[in-house]
Amino acid sequence: MESTRNKLIQLLADNSEQYISGQLLSEELEISRSAIWKHMKELEKDGYQIEGKSNKGYRIISYPDKLSENTIRWGLDTDWIGKSIVHKESTTSTQHIAHDEARNGASHGTIIIADEQTNGKGRMNRSWFSSKGKGMWLSMILRPRISPQQAPQLTLLTATVLADVLHAYCHVTPLIKWPNDILLNNKKTAGILTEMQAEQDIINYIVIGIGLNVNQSESELPEEIRHKATSLFIETEKEHSIKGLIQEILVAFEKAYDQFIKNGFPDVKRKWESYGFKIGEEITIKTLRDHFQATFLGIEEDGALRIKRMDGSTEKLYSAEIDWFDDNENHAII
Ligand code: BTN
Repeated sequence: MESTRNKLIQLLADNSEQYISGQLLSEELEISRSAIWKHMKELEKDGYQIEGKSNKGYRIISYPDKLSENTIRWGLDTDWIGKSIVHKESTTSTQHIAHDEARNGASHGTIIIADEQTNGKGRMNRSWFSSKGKGMWLSMILRPRISPQQAPQLTLLTATVLADVLHAYCHVTPLIKWPNDILLNNKKTAGILTEMQAEQDIINYIVIGIGLNVNQSESELPEEIRHKATSLFIETEKEHSIKGLIQEILVAFEKAYDQFIKNGFPDVKRKWESYGFKIGEEITIKTLRDHFQATFLGIEEDGALRIKRMDGSTEKLYSAEIDWFDDNENHAII
């Protein structure tokens, strides 16, 4: 059913300048003309505007901006990502669905997307505010043939993809706050949550979840995060197409991922560091034993933070509380 619908959209899309007859559609899809008509009604429910003329046939006039498997797939120019898409109007968390799908054998590149999450998950067991139709709440299932130790590199890569797309598509100037928060004007607009199912040296699957605040106004963000969170709408004073952003991100992710698999981490590291928040600057670091000032030098192959102490010695840090804003409030995670 679903694939007939997609073929139908494809046929209409390929002929969008002209009408395509019900007879031809019925022959191509090997279904009756009344079945074609029913599909057209379903597409209209999805928000497609379709013109039907008795002697000519059908023609798509416009595509909806609302999210559905069809609308995301339409115009999505990728080789492997998003070939399978699960869309939910509302769900607890796209991460939950992604894990279920992955355990049931979902293919590399499967995408789970929701208009709303009722129990969105952030890093460190925090919750992620995911209001209906206002942001991109997306999880990707990947089955990379890399070692589990390399998995953090994929999170860093995802952050660079988001930064690239926001810069090119929304004309903003994003920075990446280690390890993977996307900041606009020092406030977080996107976060990434990577979860992995792996054995000793084999990854069964990885789920990369991306939350991107798109069209919330300031008053639509919960009060307790307003001082540290933002959205594209707040920063640009414009609404942005969530569907368009999803497509841009998937296309850019596929390209970056393929390059990473081919060429390894150095390009990702370079790109990440070009967006790195406070690189080359002094930051305040708190570990269990210590509290000190250091210069943030960059990131390591394993995603660790590289710093230089005041005595000139360099160190790798995996987890630390960092006072990024020098105001004694840890803004590291929303
Ligand atoms: C963070 O804490 O910065 C990570 C936030 C990740 C949120 C996304 S929204 C889509 C996916 N589903 C979830 O429940 N979480 C991730």
